[in-house]
Amino acid sequence: MSARMWEGGSVRMARLARLTLLVCAVSCATWAVSQAQEDDATKPHGNAFVTKSSGRCGVCHPSERVAFEKSRHAGEDMRCTTCHGGNEQSVDQTSAHANGFKGRISRADIPASCASCHSDQKMMRPYDLPVDQMALYQTSGHGLKLKAGDTKVAVCSDCHGAHDVLAASDPACRTYVTNIPRTCGNCHGDSLLMAPRHQKDSYHDYLKSVHAKELFDKGDLRAPTCVSCHGVHGATPTQVGDVNKVCGRCHTAERRYFLAGPHADGMAKKGMSECASCHQDHAIQAGATERLASGCVSCHAKGSKEAALGAQLLADYKTADLAVSRAEEQISKADGVPLQTDDYHSRVEEARTYLREAMTAAHAVKPDVMAAFTARARSVGTEVETEIKHKLLNLLVEKVALLVFWFYVVMTIGIIRRWRDRGPKA
Ligand code: HEC
Ligand code: HEC
Ligand code: HEC
Ligand code: HEC
Ligand code: HEC
Ligand code: HEC
Ligand code: HEC
Ligand code: HEC
Ligand code: HEC
Repeated sequence: MSARMWEGGSVRMARLARLTLLVCAVSCATWAVSQAQEDDATKPHGNAFVTKSSGRCGVCHPSERVAFEKSRHAGEDMRCTTCHGGNEQSVDQTSAHANGFKGRISRADIPASCASCHSDQKMMRPYDLPVDQMALYQTSGHGLKLKAGDTKVAVCSDCHGAHDVLAASDPACRTYVTNIPRTCGNCHGDSLLMAPRHQKDSYHDYLKSVHAKELFDKGDLRAPTCVSCHGVHGATPTQVGDVNKVCGRCHTAERRYFLAGPHADGMAKKGMSECASCHQDHAIQAGATERLASGCVSCHAKGSKEAALGAQLLADYKTADLAVSRAEEQISKADGVPLQTDDYHSRVEEARTYLREAMTAAHAVKPDVMAAFTARARSVGTEVETEIKHKLLNLLVEKVALLVFWFYVVMTIGIIRRWRDRGPKA
């Protein structure tokens, strides 16, 4: 019994041992396979923090590794050592930071470091990227000051990032069009940095402008950001004499009238920056008609012939505006009757266009130039007003005539009836 028991027991033990071995073998194999897969993903070193583009540097520098791996550069066979040197195979700081290790690239050296590739025509041609950034940068307010030893100015990595360099078409990119003001504003909106240098806070002024509202609130990507007026890599302040060209790239008609008037020469002689002297450089506001008169006296004396001219332009504008408003009033009356008014609506719209053009033409500060548009707006307004008034009057006359007609009809019937009723009695 006991022998059999032992026999049976030993068989069971042997089975158990085999099973254990099998389980061990399977799990070992699974482990080995999974390890091999992991090695594949993180080759060549078999460590979870080692990746293709950052080698073992990422073990000790995880945040740089994560930023770098999202970048355009990481996809292009670039490594940490491309910019920093060092030995990426090592997980020992001393030996990793050997082998031509440059350490942190100083701010003064960053442009040259980036330009070692970005100014290389052969290297950039396949990506269709321009190679002029460094050349332009050296002419910019930033580049000139960096050369003179001022390391607080913008270098490539301030605007693009050192590790997380993204494509400009990526909405997360620092140079994506709606992010540009903030990228520049990091410094140009920092009064601690700018005030001692007698530089204005251009960023917060810009945020108050009609342009920023157009860009951020209306999503109109045609509105200018900092680089539209200053240039991208060659950023310099717009010089007096060039301001009208910069604004005129988008506001062509205003520039044309401005150049046809006395201000173009007059302001240049006095070294006043053209459009910006009247509109400000950054906090540019939406149009307000009253400024056609009130704006002049900030430069011309009260009671001067120029101030009188401003008042005349405003009066001319207002007369035309009133004529158009009165036409609009008549149209809404006619709509209530109702009368057919489609044609009037489109004519009044045309008159409003003339009024807008009058404001643009006012940049010549010449009464006859502006009057060409106000006169048209006024005559359309007056025509529409009189035509509708005439129609409404005709309508009234028709109604009264109809009333009189029916009055006589009823009266006549009454008289006939009475006459007939009286007949037989008599
Ligand atoms: C064993 C961990 C370790 C490894 C591996 C390692 N580093 Fe570092 N690294 C550090 C530490 C810690 C510091 C900060 C202390 C210091 O400044 O020396 C540092 C600092 C740096 C700095 C800034 C130096 C400065 O001048 O301020 C750079 C750049 C850098 N590492 C790049 C690399 C690169 C590139 C690699 C791969 C080739 C690498 N590191 C690998 C630990 C490591
Ligand atoms: C395209 C060139 C480039 C590559 C590639 C690059 N770096 Fe850098 N790195 C820079 C520049 C430029 C700076 C200096 C940034 C600054 O001063 O604003 C810097 C700074 C650093 C610093 C110092 C950060 C600090 O705040 O002190 C460390 C650490 C570093 N890099 C590690 C790495 C590691 C790790 C990798 C790879 C994952 C890497 N870098 C890849 C250009 C590069
Ligand atoms: C080793 C060569 C090399 C260095 C050094 C280098 N780059 Fe690049 N960079 C490239 C290549 C190649 C591309 C093209 C990648 C692509 O478009 O996929 C690129 C792309 C870019 C782009 C994206 C352009 C776009 O919109 O497609 C920017 C921005 C950029 N680099 C900025 C920098 C900055 C800033 C530095 C210095 C911190 C720098 N690069 C250093 C090679 C380099
Ligand atoms: C003051 C901020 C600023 C500085 C400094 C700067 N860039 Fe740019 N960069 C930009 C902006 C903004 C754009 C996007 C322009 C666009 O959308 O057309 C850009 C675009 C680029 C591009 C994309 C291709 C192109 O030209 O349109 C590359 C590459 C580039 N910069 C490299 C550099 C290099 C290299 C440096 C340093 C020599 C540098 N940048 C310095 C702001 C800057
Ligand atoms: C890292 C900080 C920084 C960033 C980011 C930066 N700037 Fe600057 N910028 C400066 C400093 C500092 C000066 C020098 C001011 C001085 O002392 O006159 C300067 C000068 C300038 C000047 C010349 C001013 C003059 O009177 O000569 C212009 C124009 C300018 N920046 C435009 C820009 C634009 C546009 C951007 C964004 C595309 C930008 N900056 C991003 C720091 C920065
Ligand atoms: C609509 C065009 C326009 C836009 C947009 C614009 N600027 Fe300007 N900026 C100008 C003009 C014009 C001047 C003044 C030139 C003059 O008076 O001669 C100027 C002057 C400057 C100066 C020199 C200021 C000084 O105090 O000497 C800096 C710096 C500057 N701008 C930065 C910026 C920054 C940063 C942004 C974006 C937040 C920006 N600008 C947006 C047109 C513009
Ligand atoms: C890149 C194109 C662009 C540039 C450059 C530009 N603007 Fe504008 N501007 C716009 C757009 C878009 C609007 C909003 C739509 C509109 O009213 O035309 C606007 C609106 C305005 C308005 C308000 C118009 C209104 O009807 O109320 C004024 C004033 C103005 N800009 C003045 C300027 C001045 C001054 C400059 C130069 C310092 C300038 N702009 C440079 C595109 C530009
Ligand atoms: C002498 C002062 C003065 C100068 C110089 C000046 N403007 Fe004006 N601008 C005005 C006044 C006044 C108005 C009408 C009221 C208002 O919009 O505030 C106006 C209106 C505008 C408008 C909105 C109305 C419209 O025309 O559609 C734009 C856009 C504009 N100006 C752009 C410019 C540009 C671009 C320049 C330079 C080429 C310039 N201005 C030069 C005073 C000036
Ligand atoms: C930002 C300052 C400024 C503003 C605002 C301004 N002007 Fe002028 N204007 C000048 C300058 C400068 C001259 C050149 C002659 C001079 O020095 O007086 C001039 C000249 C003129 C002239 C030619 C005078 C002559 O004798 O040749 C006329 C007309 C004129 N302005 C009308 C106006 C009117 C109308 C307004 C208001 C819509 C206005 N200006 C607003 C600066 C300004």
